[in-house]
Amino acid sequence: MRIGILGSGLMGAKLGTIFARAGHEVVFSYTRSQEKLEQLAREAGSKAKAGTPREAAQDADAVLLAVHWSRVRDVLKQAGDLSGKVVVTCSLPMNDANTELVVARSSSGAEELAKMLPKARIVSAFNTVPSEVLFEVYAAKDKAARPSLVYCGDDASAKEMAVGLIRDVGFDPVDAGPLKIARYTEPFALLMGQLAYEGDGGPELAYRFERFPG
Ligand SMILES: NC(=O)c1ccc[n+]([C@@H]2O[C@H](COP(=O)([O-])OP(=O)(O)OC[C@H]3O[C@@H](n4cnc5c(N)ncnc54)[C@H](OP(=O)(O)O)[C@@H]3O)[C@@H](O)[C@H]2O)c1
Repeated sequence: MRIGILGSGLMGAKLGTIFARAGHEVVFSYTRSQEKLEQLAREAGSKAKAGTPREAAQDADAVLLAVHWSRVRDVLKQAGDLSGKVVVTCSLPMNDANTELVVARSSSGAEELAKMLPKARIVSAFNTVPSEVLFEVYAAKDKAARPSLVYCGDDASAKEMAVGLIRDVGFDPVDAGPLKIARYTEPFALLMGQLAYEGDGGPELAYRFERFPG
């Protein structure tokens, strides 16, 4: 798959690197340092390169949106037309201080994104785990019981593509339902952040749901 990374910070850099190592063609974009972007692409291997948001998006089968909420409109403008594209968003609608959600309860960041991109196929995924655990999950993917990862969206084929990527990283995908369920998954991501960054065990934290026979 060709994957454009819109936002190559903590999440985008790691997920893009894993996607490239898993065999996808990846274009990293949108940092404040071209040098950083190029180094990132070099380190991610021969399947990865650096580009502009437009270059990342134009031939992509899917794009990963991984920017702070305050940068969403800017990066989308730079990316150009995303009609028909699968947009996997890990972005959370946080305020500038990253202390609270600015969209919640009656909507979600994912639904607001869908309003900004009515012709794109949005899937919300990867936002319920801290970036620090991603390489660990990838490294453990053939060894341990896989951690869960919730995702949601309204487009079945877009969700199928997201499932492939979720599995490539090493998670067990859990379909949480339509995009509006991001109203639940986004606050859950804040709980994960609380446990990862304020808890005692460190940020390398993932979760696993267990079903018990009734
Ligand atoms: N980090 C996590 O563990 C985590 C977990 C779940 C969800 N999320 C969500 O995922 C999204 C991405 O988070 P992140 O931690 O990867 O963010 P980040 O590290 O700040 O990365 C954001 C990217 O946007 C780039 N950018 C370009 N222009 C910018 C500008 N003018 N101001 C600020 N950034 C600019 C940054 O560039 P530079 O590289 O030059 O900084 C960086 O590459 C956010 O919505 C966040 O809420 C994050």
